[in-house]
Amino acid sequence: MHALTIRGADTGAQLTLEEVAEPAPTSQDLLVEGLALGVCGTDRSIIARGVRRSAPGRDWLILGHESLGRVLHAPPGSAYSPGDLVTGLVRRPDPQPCANCAAGDLDLCENGEYTERGILGQDGYGAQRYLLDPAYAVRVDPVLGLAGVLVEPTSIVAKAWERLDVAARRPGGRALVLGAGPIGLLAALLAHQRGYDVHVVDQVADGPKVAQVRALPATYHQGVESLAGEFDAVLECTGELVAAAVTRTARGGALCLVAGLHRGAEVGTVDLAAVSGALMGGNRTFTGVVSSSRQHFEAAHSALRTAAPDWLSGLMTTVVPLAKYAEAFAPDPHAIKTVIRLTDAAV
Ligand code: BGC
Repeated sequence: MHALTIRGADTGAQLTLEEVAEPAPTSQDLLVEGLALGVCGTDRSIIARGVRRSAPGRDWLILGHESLGRVLHAPPGSAYSPGDLVTGLVRRPDPQPCANCAAGDLDLCENGEYTERGILGQDGYGAQRYLLDPAYAVRVDPVLGLAGVLVEPTSIVAKAWERLDVAARRPGGRALVLGAGPIGLLAALLAHQRGYDVHVVDQVADGPKVAQVRALPATYHQGVESLAGEFDAVLECTGELVAAAVTRTARGGALCLVAGLHRGAEVGTVDLAAVSGALMGGNRTFTGVVSSSRQHFEAAHSALRTAAPDWLSGLMTTVVPLAKYAEAFAPDPHAIKTVIRLTDAAV
């Protein structure tokens, strides 16, 4: 079978489509046919910066963590049957789970000894067949079709909203999303579903990103300079506009960083007195998310099931067969989500 493999550390990695051994079936795991793989910034960053930890016993890794697959074989008593659509959680607890991992909150791992499929120390889902422990599988409603591959990235923003729902003083007020990539647009979708007046900022003047914002419907702004006023809930999804995100958060409002801070982004100096005033006197909440657990996958799945199917299709601007995987990694400022079809099977 074919898989997207990645090898090389430190100065960049080499991505290859190669023939690898079929997974050896086990008595506990689902055998899954890979249908689709989403490509995200983490994959691009692994290619650019190298593999941090390869799979045990070798110097390479199968790439990919945004998955959609179909069960080919399910162990008895697993609650899955052949034909079921599934996606897989990304994180696995470390062998000596910390208290949070032991409770299933893998996203809150305290000791950092977790692994992540396709990212850190474990093969990913970029293969035509793979094994998936049913404890880390999430059932996908066939009504979602190819959009089932969006459950994992949506799980990250579902976690952001889990936090903003508690922290933002005025639910249903004004929401600001910085960045109209896949994460930003999915964050905007969940804001819209919560009844917020949604504003999205990106750099482009037109194209699919702008069309997706307007179709939600939400208001599109080209550049932060064109924004007016403050916002009750702010999601920073670019990694470059953290300062703007902080200053646009209203009193009693909440900010969630979803993309972290890009290396090399201009940060200036931090005025701790201003930050403590903003947090205490202004009753603001600042938080951040990078990973997710089962409850976030479940919340993401529900959110996608209530979204307009055409809008979800509009997010997947580039869909390529596995043989043309290189096109999936070529930079394209107008592309939103790129999806690789792993087999010819219909979804
Ligand atoms: C994935 C997360 C993962 C994080 C850090 C993100 O792209 O969606 O599941 O925890 O990268 O590796």
